[in-house]
Amino acid sequence: MALAVSLALFLVFLFPICSLGQGVEFLFNGFNGSDSNLTLEGASILKPSGMIRLTNKTHNIIGHAFYDKPINMFDKSSSSYPNASSFSTHFVFAIVSSSSGKGGFGLAFTLSPSPHFPGAEPGHFLGIVNSTNDNYSSNHIFAVEFDTVNGFKEKSNTKGNHVGININSVYSVASEPAAYFVAGAHKEEMNLESGDLIQAWIDYDGKTKFVNVTIAPIDKMKPDQPLLSHHVNLSSILQQTMYAGFSASTGKEVSSHYIIAWSFAVDGMPSKLNLSQLPNPPKEKSSSSYKPQIKALIVALSVVVFVLLAILFFFTLYRKMVGFESESLEDWELDCPHRFKYKDLYTATKGFKASGVIGAGGFGEVYKGVLASSGCEIAVKKITRNSIQGMREFAAEIESLGRLRHKNLVHLQGWCKKKNNLLIVYDYIPYGSLDTLIFEPRDNFVLSWEQRFNILKGIASGLLYLHEEWEQVVIHRDVKSSNVLIDADMNPRLSDFGLARLYDHGEISHTTGVVGTIGYIAPELARTGKASTCSDVFAYGVLLLEVACGQRPIGSGEFILADWVMENHQEDRILETVDPNLDSNYVVKEMKLVLELGLICSHYKPDARPTMRQVVRYLHEDEQLPEVDNWSIVDSGRISETNARFMQLLSTDTITSYQSSSVGGISCSSMSGGR
Ligand SMILES: *[C@@H]1O[C@H](CO)[C@@H](O)[C@H](O)[C@H]1NC(C)=O
Ligand SMILES: *[C@@H]1O[C@H](CO)[C@@H](O)[C@H](O)[C@H]1NC(C)=O
Ligand SMILES: *[C@@H]1O[C@H](CO)[C@@H](O)[C@H](O)[C@H]1NC(C)=O
Ligand SMILES: *[C@@H]1O[C@H](CO)[C@@H](O)[C@H](O)[C@H]1NC(C)=O
Ligand SMILES: *[C@@H]1O[C@H](CO)[C@@H](O)[C@H](O)[C@H]1NC(C)=O
Ligand SMILES: *[C@@H]1O[C@H](CO)[C@@H](O)[C@H](O)[C@H]1NC(C)=O
Ligand SMILES: *[C@@H]1O[C@H](CO)[C@@H](O)[C@H](O)[C@H]1NC(C)=O
Ligand SMILES: *[C@@H]1O[C@H](CO)[C@@H](O)[C@H](O)[C@H]1NC(C)=O
Ligand SMILES: *[C@@H]1O[C@H](CO)[C@@H](O)[C@H](O)[C@H]1NC(C)=O
Repeated sequence: MALAVSLALFLVFLFPICSLGQGVEFLFNGFNGSDSNLTLEGASILKPSGMIRLTNKTHNIIGHAFYDKPINMFDKSSSSYPNASSFSTHFVFAIVSSSSGKGGFGLAFTLSPSPHFPGAEPGHFLGIVNSTNDNYSSNHIFAVEFDTVNGFKEKSNTKGNHVGININSVYSVASEPAAYFVAGAHKEEMNLESGDLIQAWIDYDGKTKFVNVTIAPIDKMKPDQPLLSHHVNLSSILQQTMYAGFSASTGKEVSSHYIIAWSFAVDGMPSKLNLSQLPNPPKEKSSSSYKPQIKALIVALSVVVFVLLAILFFFTLYRKMVGFESESLEDWELDCPHRFKYKDLYTATKGFKASGVIGAGGFGEVYKGVLASSGCEIAVKKITRNSIQGMREFAAEIESLGRLRHKNLVHLQGWCKKKNNLLIVYDYIPYGSLDTLIFEPRDNFVLSWEQRFNILKGIASGLLYLHEEWEQVVIHRDVKSSNVLIDADMNPRLSDFGLARLYDHGEISHTTGVVGTIGYIAPELARTGKASTCSDVFAYGVLLLEVACGQRPIGSGEFILADWVMENHQEDRILETVDPNLDSNYVVKEMKLVLELGLICSHYKPDARPTMRQVVRYLHEDEQLPEVDNWSIVDSGRISETNARFMQLLSTDTITSYQSSSVGGISCSSMSGGR
């Protein structure tokens, strides 16, 4: 029962809406996805931004866009006395002209028996009719033109900018210059081809037979007073079914014509357009007032300028990206003969590409490169410093180290700085480091005793050069197997000499300044932080034992190589410590010499150690090796103690990340080619 009542109420309520809605009604708040509801013809296209563009700025073209379904214009219920139905439409358009005042021709809202206009002409004919069928009553066309050119059937065209009502013809039965009314009678002029969005309303009253045409800017309400109000009996003009849409054309003058939104209704109010977010047609600045030659010249020049600018832009960008730009030089840098250009190193290493990394030492990565200028192979060590404090000292140091020349030293070619990066350039040594040859040999390659002995002698000679034979005393500070590179003739070359000192400069100089590698750090160095030639000798002693025994200075657990060799020495079986890989293929006398010298050099008391000159003499048997001082295990225990202390030191924050990374990185000592 209740259901029936509500159903009845519903029907009663629904009915008037249905009868009102008998006329066609549609709404396009933008034309996104409306291809299926529109018939587009000629030049007209749907823009991705959701607008219809009826024409572009090509001369003498036509564009049509019509709602694809026919619209019944007569109320069948009063067929005895046929009156054309009332209709209303509200739309938003824009006309973008080439240059102000020179655009053309125009667009027209059109009711026509067909959405197709075969034979229609552009220009003044607006794509609706042609010179033959203009003003034929058989056309059955109602149009409202928004025309920007006057002068139809006159000798010259003048600026139009008018709105007109057209019946079967492009001749207007009523027209007014484009304007809108504000506050009653005050008329505000409007420029149709400004490119701005313009609203238009066309209302036909089937009873009074008046057509009203109203326009206004996009941000205004519909003015109360229409621009045009014209009496016309559309019953004798329209046909039973009509198509509604837009037509536009260009001629000698050109404009782009856009329809942005559209709402239409027969017998009722059209749905409200949502004007809040309509797209704006592109406004082009144009130079169409110039002659074509000048235009071409301007275009050509602009292209050239643009290309040049683009090249300049990308070049600067490129330089910025790779950092060439930041290579600001201070006066003192210019005096440095060993300074490289960042650009050259960047090119040499192919932009520091990851595949060019040949080693990762404690201070940074090492890249292989080839200098473009000389074809020389180089190794570039890239160090990221947190601070450029001490840059000047750094450069001075490199300048002096660059003058070092010895066959057992890797030649330091120079340096370069870029922001926080320091680059140090060495000769490239192809065979990698001593520690890889001993601990990670490839293809079961075992370094023979002869080679090992030769390498140890070479290192000693390089260290002697650093300590005594050059104009200044250079302390290596990081003697270890991974800093010994082996060249093609199996000769050793020390690398990274003196560098550790560079880290004393600047911010970390106030800290303990201990730099080195666990296992090679002399006890007094760990205690005082003062490196000396004696601490280099200590590290060299450890290196001697390492090469002879084929063992790392510190093994797993409590194992300390020096202690172990000492123990065996005291029990008179020192040869049991020899690297088993040598398979007894060694000269016993030389082996004993190396092992005992190793013990002497790694004595816990600095003054008990020989100098490098003495070491070289012992190795060449120019001098008799003294008796090994039987420092006890208790004494050597201090070494492990100091190493433990050093470990502790590492974990405290008094050491900068810099230092700890250096030590942490190197102490793993398993890296290949660690330079
Ligand atoms: C139409 O779609 C495009 C993207 O496809 C969008 O950028 C534009 O805002 C849309 N226009 C309307 C009126 O929805
Ligand atoms: C467009 O056409 C589709 C089907 O083709 C229809 O569902 C939709 O209502 C139409 N939109 C308008 C505004 O007429
Ligand atoms: C303008 O439209 C015409 C007709 O569709 C087309 O042939 C021409 O290539 C278009 N020109 C431009 C610049 O888009
Ligand atoms: C048709 O128009 C005439 C005069 O314009 C008017 O008197 C009449 O009521 C109209 N008929 C309908 C059904 O609207
Ligand atoms: C003018 O248009 C009519 C109808 O569309 C067509 O039959 C006629 O051939 C056209 N005339 C010219 C000169 O194009
Ligand atoms: C158009 O035709 C009508 C008669 O059908 C005539 O009165 C009118 O003058 C014509 N207009 C033009 C511009 O030829
Ligand atoms: C047309 O304008 C006139 C005068 O402003 C007004 O009286 C009439 O109601 C309007 N007709 C329609 C259909 O808007
Ligand atoms: C309007 O035109 C129709 C059809 O031509 C005609 O029957 C009717 O009398 C006309 N009405 C007026 C008011 O002119
Ligand atoms: C109008 O469109 C905007 C964005 O498309 C939307 O946020 C807003 O709700 C719409 N307003 C109405 C009244 O539909």
